[in-house]
Amino acid sequence: MNKYILALDQGTTSSRAILFGHDGRVRAIAQQEFPQIFPQPGWVEHDAGDIWRSQLAVAQEVLRESGADAADIAAIGIANQRETTLLWDRSTGKPVANAIVWQDRRTAGICDALREAGHAERIRQKTGLVIDAYFSGTKLKWLLDNVPGVRARAERGELAFGTVDAWLVWKLCGRHVTDVSNASRTMLFDIHALAWDEELLQCLDIPPSVLPAVVPSSGEVGRSDPQWFGASIPIAGIAGDQQAATFGQACHQPGMAKNTYGTGCFMLMHTGDRAKASHNNLLTTVGWNRSGVPGAEYMLEGSVFMAGAAVQWLRDGLGIIRSAEEVEELAASVPDTGGVVMVPAFAGLGAPYWDAYARGTIVGLTRGSTKAHIARATLAAIAYQTADVLEAMQKDAEIGLTELRVDGGAARNNLLMQFQADVLGVPVVRPKVTETTALGAAYLAGLAVGFWSSREEIAAQWQVDRRFEPAMAAAEARQRLATWRRAVDRSREWAVP
Ligand code: G3P
Repeated sequence: MNKYILALDQGTTSSRAILFGHDGRVRAIAQQEFPQIFPQPGWVEHDAGDIWRSQLAVAQEVLRESGADAADIAAIGIANQRETTLLWDRSTGKPVANAIVWQDRRTAGICDALREAGHAERIRQKTGLVIDAYFSGTKLKWLLDNVPGVRARAERGELAFGTVDAWLVWKLCGRHVTDVSNASRTMLFDIHALAWDEELLQCLDIPPSVLPAVVPSSGEVGRSDPQWFGASIPIAGIAGDQQAATFGQACHQPGMAKNTYGTGCFMLMHTGDRAKASHNNLLTTVGWNRSGVPGAEYMLEGSVFMAGAAVQWLRDGLGIIRSAEEVEELAASVPDTGGVVMVPAFAGLGAPYWDAYARGTIVGLTRGSTKAHIARATLAAIAYQTADVLEAMQKDAEIGLTELRVDGGAARNNLLMQFQADVLGVPVVRPKVTETTALGAAYLAGLAVGFWSSREEIAAQWQVDRRFEPAMAAAEARQRLATWRRAVDRSREWAVP
């Protein structure tokens, strides 16, 4: 009898593999960071080979470490950094260029042109997205227009486009597919019809031959090549990492929401089986769907581009901490930020501002400011950005949130979680298993192959680790947010197009 599900969590800064048991608990975990490539200011790339090699290595490592073999694994589930855009040769498997990462701003000009040409409303209606360099569509167009010879090869049907899920499935089993949740982040996909949209393809000049087939998030899509794990394993779950985390947090009912503190911060609220339009600059996105079940479940999403990455910058850019964990102690060494406000708009601002030209800003520095104040202001900024998104979400959803489920690396930071509850005025709840991204992918795969029988069984596994109750007076929270928004104004439209 199969004992485990193998979840692959291919994130922006690292590849992880986790083995989950039937009780939804972690049995083994392996992680590898891989290089970030910054060829120019505002550009971020990954070597597609690094993505694959690191992901395969950690998957093989968890099997080795736990003494499991392919026969012990019921299925593989994949969760991935979304939007990151790859284009490769169908016959050689060779990428035509580095992957353009979701944070990359090089296509801001293409987005300006699309807006000026009046496409914003149509794109929002069809895709649920605002026009932004974040999504794959303009990145793919950039590759086709700028890498020599590539457009002609694409038109001859020689090239395959995909987000990271498609790349991994291609490498694992040779099929060219993507799931609905990842497709919904391309700006080429009609989220109502659940199909690639011809008008959008024409608008961005994308030859349809490059597109992957769209498959359900939960359902078998193929079996891994035996060369990778000794024998083949069904690949049965695929979802963008944020949708996967929402599934892993058991936010299965309309109105339930989670926030993941990873490289960025992504808050998703389940809105049922109909796409709900946002009137407050959030995204409408596909959550997931299941093989054999028509339609899909939808989410409202607030995407914040910099969260954990801002802490990494304290470590790698400023060198004021040696490890990300040290930030909590440094921030706690001062009672407040001493008036310092930091806006980590290193890659522009996402929801609800959508300003590709905003840049990182620190205001309120005085002669008494120290690295501890900057560290504390960085944590506060993560909480404030989340508060901006929650406010928009409550307006869109027309309901008050009763609690926010949290996960991701920085959710382990108690100082940040308490401050988060304080500025939101909503209880913040951290589950026992915070590996919810991988867990969600495991659940999607496990449900497809009968490893778990129902969502009820899965939801019953979710357990609270700690609940943070708001302790700050509402007037003080309001005042702090007002100061934060003044600082945001200073950061905006800084990089001139
Ligand atoms: O949309 C980008 C998101 O999927 C990246 O997630 O976990 O790599 O920060 P993460």
